[in-house]
Amino acid sequence: MLVLLGLLLTSLMVHAQDDQSGHISIDCGITKGLTYTDNTTGIQYVSDADFIDSGEIHNISSVNFDTQLTTLTSFPNNTRNCYTIKPKNGKGNKYLIRANFMYGNYDFLNRLPEFDVFLGPDYWDTMKFNSSSQSRTMEIIHVLSSDYIHVCLVNRGRGTPFISAIELRQLAGDMYKETNFGSLYAATRENFGSNSSTVRYKADNYDRLWGSSPATTPDYTSIKTVNNISDGLSPNVSLPLDVMNSAVTPRNLNVSFDIEWEPFNTTDKFFIYMHFAEIASLKSNQTREFNIYLNGKLWYGPLSPLNHTTTTISSSVPEPITPKYTVTINKTKNSTLPPIINALELYVLKELPQRQTHDQDVDAIWSIKSVYRLTRNWQGDPCAPREFVWDGVRCNYDEIDMDSHRIVFLNLSTSGLKGEIDPGIAHLTMIETLDLSNNSLTGSVPDFLSGLKFLKVLNLKGNNFTGRIPKELLEKSKKGSLLLSFDGDCGTNRCGKKDKKIIVPVIATVASIFVIITALTIVWIVKKQKAHDKRKTRTGLEIKKQKFTYSEIKSITDNFKIVIGKGGFGEVYKGCIGDVEVAVKMLSKSSLQGDKEFQAEAYLLLSVHHKNLTSLVGYCVQGKHKGIIYEYMANGNLQSHLFDTSSRVLNWEERLQIACDSARGLEYLHHGCKPPIVHRDVKCNNILLNERFQAKLADFGLCRAFPTEAATHISTEVAGTPGYLDPEYYLSYRLTEKSDVYSFGVVLLVIITGQPAITRYENDNIHISRWVKVQLADGDVKNAVDPRLQGDFDSDSVLRAVELAMACVADLPNGRPTMNEVVMGLIDCLVAERARQEIKLDSLTGIESVDMETVD
Ligand SMILES: *[C@@H]1O[C@H](CO)[C@@H](O)[C@H](O)[C@H]1NC(C)=O
Ligand SMILES: *[C@@H]1O[C@H](CO)[C@@H](O)[C@H](O)[C@H]1NC(C)=O
Ligand SMILES: *[C@@H]1O[C@H](CO)[C@@H](O)[C@H](O)[C@H]1NC(C)=O
Ligand SMILES: *[C@@H]1O[C@H](CO)[C@@H](O)[C@H](O)[C@H]1NC(C)=O
Ligand SMILES: *[C@@H]1O[C@H](CO)[C@@H](O)[C@H](O)[C@H]1NC(C)=O
Ligand SMILES: *[C@@H]1O[C@H](CO)[C@@H](O)[C@H](O)[C@H]1NC(C)=O
Ligand SMILES: *[C@@H]1O[C@H](CO)[C@@H](O)[C@H](O)[C@H]1NC(C)=O
Ligand SMILES: *[C@@H]1O[C@H](CO)[C@@H](O)[C@H](O)[C@H]1NC(C)=O
Ligand SMILES: *[C@@H]1O[C@H](CO)[C@@H](O)[C@H](O)[C@H]1NC(C)=O
Ligand SMILES: *[C@@H]1O[C@H](CO)[C@@H](O)[C@H](O)[C@H]1NC(C)=O
Ligand SMILES: *[C@@H]1O[C@H](CO)[C@@H](O)[C@H](O)[C@H]1NC(C)=O
Ligand SMILES: *[C@@H]1O[C@H](CO)[C@@H](O)[C@H](O)[C@H]1NC(C)=O
Repeated sequence: MLVLLGLLLTSLMVHAQDDQSGHISIDCGITKGLTYTDNTTGIQYVSDADFIDSGEIHNISSVNFDTQLTTLTSFPNNTRNCYTIKPKNGKGNKYLIRANFMYGNYDFLNRLPEFDVFLGPDYWDTMKFNSSSQSRTMEIIHVLSSDYIHVCLVNRGRGTPFISAIELRQLAGDMYKETNFGSLYAATRENFGSNSSTVRYKADNYDRLWGSSPATTPDYTSIKTVNNISDGLSPNVSLPLDVMNSAVTPRNLNVSFDIEWEPFNTTDKFFIYMHFAEIASLKSNQTREFNIYLNGKLWYGPLSPLNHTTTTISSSVPEPITPKYTVTINKTKNSTLPPIINALELYVLKELPQRQTHDQDVDAIWSIKSVYRLTRNWQGDPCAPREFVWDGVRCNYDEIDMDSHRIVFLNLSTSGLKGEIDPGIAHLTMIETLDLSNNSLTGSVPDFLSGLKFLKVLNLKGNNFTGRIPKELLEKSKKGSLLLSFDGDCGTNRCGKKDKKIIVPVIATVASIFVIITALTIVWIVKKQKAHDKRKTRTGLEIKKQKFTYSEIKSITDNFKIVIGKGGFGEVYKGCIGDVEVAVKMLSKSSLQGDKEFQAEAYLLLSVHHKNLTSLVGYCVQGKHKGIIYEYMANGNLQSHLFDTSSRVLNWEERLQIACDSARGLEYLHHGCKPPIVHRDVKCNNILLNERFQAKLADFGLCRAFPTEAATHISTEVAGTPGYLDPEYYLSYRLTEKSDVYSFGVVLLVIITGQPAITRYENDNIHISRWVKVQLADGDVKNAVDPRLQGDFDSDSVLRAVELAMACVADLPNGRPTMNEVVMGLIDCLVAERARQEIKLDSLTGIESVDMETVD
């Protein structure tokens, strides 16, 4: 406890420094290269010229506004114009992103424009104005999915878009954990009891804007303290003193404090944050205690704010949608004082579902753009949204790489390129077609072009290259895997084989039409599924209440009627909340842990969300009854699909997809959660399948919540699961991420071989890794594969999977890959298997290319 306090203090001191390192403040419309420090806030602003290469700058004549609002940049020319910002800390970091707009009749037309604003590929909001002197702000809390932030203004034919300022503030990773659900659109921040101006930087290190909200009716009064307020239980929210040191309270003891609002959009889902601290000095016979109701239902309480210490109460899931929200805070019977509230934040959940282009491709294409000083309208994300894909660029929107788009086609023909071929091109690793024809490129044709594995078409004609074409390129071209065009290539014997040239594109075309059709089908299926998913989660999320009583659990499970499983922790029952099916796991043994710790852990688990992790719906803790409510997974666990003779045999692609899904879930626990979560019990039983056979990991973090079992090393009973448990554990008694990797390796071996983790053989227990080694001794990987697959798989794909699994079960933890690497490896296996299936189908469409050959 003392250590914790020490930590808090040091972090407070760090926060107290004037540190704008996580801030980027851009004043649009000031001269390129200009920077200044704002007189009132001390924030340093820079010109926007370095973040965009279009736009006209303008001044507003009035000067009664913030300096940032007196200049702006407008965009009369293209439909979409984007600012591209690459902050020092990119992907995975959390930012508050704010855009400011004031029209100010800068163009003397007196016509209020209306336009769309996008954040990267996603629609953010439509900007509208009431008057020319109205200043408007849009703000969002967003976890970057790429190293780049693009703020794009889109002209929808209702006036010229413009922008006055852009501000970026990096937030601490543990602030606003609800970003797990999506981005948070800031609806309001109220500083109750204050009548001074807006509080922001430096009072607020994160430069959130807090509007003053004094008591406005005679029923209420504002109070204020001169003392400091400690962060207390909410160090991660880090509220400014100027916000917490004032509050509003009813004058009359029996008056409640009410807040009401109506959403602009009836589909808005709200997160509510309320901040409380006792700032009056209470006599010993006084108490202040109150309940918080939302729309007439108890939301939290009773609460008795701590003396000069912040307590934050917030929604852990989005509040149920209603046309009007009413928060009522009223005193409890025992309280001798009316309620108090210091601050309120409201956020609207904004799901920004679009994927962006892979960072490596973005880096490469920006390098190409700057090296050749290209003046074409290349702005924002190269691939997304598809409506605005860059001119001359085409991308693959394949679902295999779930996280990003890849550039597969680049046409830079007749673009006035000068100098050598930019090495940046080597980083476009997925490129299939590259057209550099009719430029003034010089130097030699670089070797790295032959390293581009997927390159099928390369056009170098009409340039001034010197030296030879790299041998590998010529060989690829001879083999027919590359269609290469360059000047003066008759020195080789290629000229005599012109016919090949014709065949290749035909095959390529037929193949690519096929690929396109498959791609479209996949996209369509996935789209359908996504829509389906959304509906599912919506109903899921509407089960707002998370803490259930034992009697409610009884009614949910119809008095524990249907047992659907039995795990290390207890039995699992089927249940229903409304019309949503759930699985309820009751814990058989009383835990050593107190109720508070259990609740804290349950809360942690409730905050983890990933499509490959079973989501927790709620929990119950009442006396010795402790239970966990999960989403229901219609197809049970992987173990039964691999071993029950009654179930259909999963084919190799399905197995890989399941492995890939569960690997992603584990990857998220290790690399997407802070602090990382070690699963501790990865096994086929804990991989559940939904109605579409999408795999989700279950039971993660449970061992943290219930340390009696797997985590106590004294217990010889169950420590992980035999066969799956990291052997290193017997030496160190510690389970780490690498232990999960080991267990995952065993899962993968079980998936490949269809053998149990431990086989009994002549009074001996044989571990699956040994069994596989024995089978591989003959050098034929097929011996190790589940015979039920009947040889219907790509051997290369299987071989890679076996190698990956064997790497995961390496004896020494350091020799094992990370889950990131495992996911990448499995994607490769999946690609190989799918390619085999495409070839299988291709051979059916191959007739036309045969025709072409006979023509020659
Ligand atoms: C900021 O303060 C300086 C000195 O106090 C003053 O010269 C300058 O005009 C001020 N700038 C603005 C924009 O108010
Ligand atoms: C917009 O287009 C016009 C005419 O095409 C051109 O004169 C002007 O320079 C362009 N403005 C910007 C900001 O690119
Ligand atoms: C904006 O105002 C500044 C100072 O008042 C002036 O130097 C600048 O030329 C003006 N810019 C434009 C585009 O009018
Ligand atoms: C804009 O005007 C409408 C109607 O006059 C009003 O309801 C609304 O609150 C105004 N919006 C802002 C942001 O001032
Ligand atoms: C704020 O309120 C205090 C009393 O509560 C009052 O003395 C002060 O004048 C007010 N300030 C403003 C700017 O209204
Ligand atoms: C509040 O804290 C600051 C910094 O920790 C300190 O300088 C100041 O004296 C404190 N104020 C009071 C009233 O305790
Ligand atoms: C409300 O939000 C939904 C989804 O975000 C959107 O499709 C709809 O157009 C919005 N409606 C209004 C009136 O803005
Ligand atoms: C609390 O004690 C004070 C004297 O210390 C007394 O004046 C007041 O009436 C008491 N209040 C209540 C609610 O008992
Ligand atoms: C507090 O407000 C809620 C909701 O309006 C109401 O149901 C409850 O009876 C109130 N409690 C008291 C003690 O006034
Ligand atoms: C509450 O805290 C303030 C400031 O830290 C202190 O002056 C006051 O004595 C405390 N009041 C009680 C009742 O503990
Ligand atoms: C009210 O106070 C009494 C005496 O302090 C206590 O026994 C009782 O539990 C309290 N009731 C509530 C609802 O807190
Ligand atoms: C390329 O070569 C042609 C003819 O060989 C010459 O006219 C042209 O100037 C050269 N261009 C460059 C950029 O060197």
